[in-house]
Amino acid sequence: MSNTEEHQGTRRDFIYYATAGAGAVVTGAAVWPLVNQMNPSADVKAQASKRVDVSTVAPGTQLTVLWQGKPVFIRARTEAEIAEARAVELSALPDQLADNANLPADADASDENRALTEDGVWLVQMGVCTHLGCVPLGEAGDFGGWYCPCHGSHYDTAGRIRKGPAPRNLDIPVAAFIDDTTIQLG
Ligand code: FES
Repeated sequence: MSNTEEHQGTRRDFIYYATAGAGAVVTGAAVWPLVNQMNPSADVKAQASKRVDVSTVAPGTQLTVLWQGKPVFIRARTEAEIAEARAVELSALPDQLADNANLPADADASDENRALTEDGVWLVQMGVCTHLGCVPLGEAGDFGGWYCPCHGSHYDTAGRIRKGPAPRNLDIPVAAFIDDTTIQLG
């Protein structure tokens, strides 16, 4: 084999593997909601806590991480998102409980009880619709928060259900900052 042929062969192999790799990623994304509804495997269950570097999450963006087999949304909210969430009367909320595992079960759904930090910037919640478990879309819906396209549930910028069939606010898992840029889940 000449040098040229050898080079081409290597390049073809590379293209083949690159394509196969991309295919695997797409397939993985497509089956995620399905996997999500099945029992997590033993190794996933064993992963009781997870540390997430949030240093690259700018205001107005969110990071989605997989924890215990489920997506978790970690969002750095803008001033406008925080102000909007804090202006809502509790009486306007279908679910008036915080649904925050870091607080007593009867804590109310004020934005202060939903946010991870006192300044209201960080919001950490399960990316699992409380209706039938789909993964809601961010920055969508009638209330500018999350929207679940499966059956039309609208969540506000604090992840509270406002309209649609979902019965509860998005659940907030046990979470805490353990240093300036790291959030620990669980
Ligand atoms: S699963 Fe989200 S609205 Fe039904």
